[in-house]
Amino acid sequence: MVDAMTTEGIRPDVLDAFRAESRHVYVPRFVRRIETAPGTWETRVFTPDHPDWAREVYTDQLLVTATMFGDDGPPLSSSTVPSLMAAMLDALAVEPGMSVVEIGAGTGYNAGILARLAGDDNVTTVDIEPDVTTTARRALTAAGHPHVTVVHTDGSRPPAAPRSLDRLIATCGVDRVPRTWLAAVRPGGRLVLPLGTGVVCLTVDEHGHGEGPFLAMPAYFMGLRTTAGSNGIPYPGDPTDPLEPCAMPLDAWHDDALRFPIGLALPASDLGQRDLPDALTLWTGDGSVATLHADGTCRQSGPRRLADELANVRRDFESAGRPGREHHRLRIDPQGRHTTSFTPPA
Ligand SMILES: C[S@@+](CC[C@H](N)C(=O)[O-])C[C@H]1O[C@@H](n2cnc3c(N)ncnc32)[C@H](O)[C@@H]1O
Repeated sequence: MVDAMTTEGIRPDVLDAFRAESRHVYVPRFVRRIETAPGTWETRVFTPDHPDWAREVYTDQLLVTATMFGDDGPPLSSSTVPSLMAAMLDALAVEPGMSVVEIGAGTGYNAGILARLAGDDNVTTVDIEPDVTTTARRALTAAGHPHVTVVHTDGSRPPAAPRSLDRLIATCGVDRVPRTWLAAVRPGGRLVLPLGTGVVCLTVDEHGHGEGPFLAMPAYFMGLRTTAGSNGIPYPGDPTDPLEPCAMPLDAWHDDALRFPIGLALPASDLGQRDLPDALTLWTGDGSVATLHADGTCRQSGPRRLADELANVRRDFESAGRPGREHHRLRIDPQGRHTTSFTPPA
């Protein structure tokens, strides 16, 4: 596996753990949607009798291992891209004997690697899907880790007693760090988790604050399934204020680098969103709404000026020289308030 991965700067113990752990044990079946002709999609199922199964398993890529509503449906669980797993485990800095909880057991592969770093008895991994925890437990046992604890639960609940964990890692995404996660980690302990479209590494201080940098790598994890999505936010109606020029062009919304700071300033779970080919409408639960048009105009109304907020994020990002994720930091207080900052690239 390591031969296929980007390994620059990764701790040797993490790479050794990847060398020791066989990914194929954890992914006996996965599916992939393939565009066979423009607009025509086919689902391929990979099992050990497929000639490409082993090669696909040991390629540095995401493998979708569970789906909703049959094999053609949206992903429910997956094995993360190994290079991204390695970057997250490198940041987590696990030492033998440390107590570790993983939110998002999935296939169990990451828990198997954590077990190599911390010791089998010290690792607990949880997943909200009962079938997923059953197969993860089976795979971990087959891989020689019968003492890793696999729990079927909602990972947004307190994962351990307050201040009891040395490390917490999440492999499903949030756009706000659940207070339960921060509270579970002891002072001096660490959390590594996907936030927005990045991964943040937080160290907890003696007052229960978490603080730390984002990793450079982009990350698009499936979300923690209890996080409210945009569907739950009632549409307040079309914006009513006069049409105005907009300092946030519609195509900037699709700029991946800019979407990272936008995600920090306007978390996706707070936003309703409707995409049309030549317009984008966003709204929040307090009745604010804005529509950006492809011709560079917008209309907005409500207590928040959402188009202006987007334009301000863009202005700060551009004037700071478009800082990458690794130039951003996050601080959270025990009440769960998030403060982000960035240092412009030198
Ligand atoms: C990317 S997969 C995890 C990959 C896994 N670490 C591995 O090595 O295979 C994300 C997992 O998060 C789980 N998940 C989503 N919401 C959750 C929640 N509220 N609590 C616990 N697990 C959750 C999903 O069921 C899914 O299995």
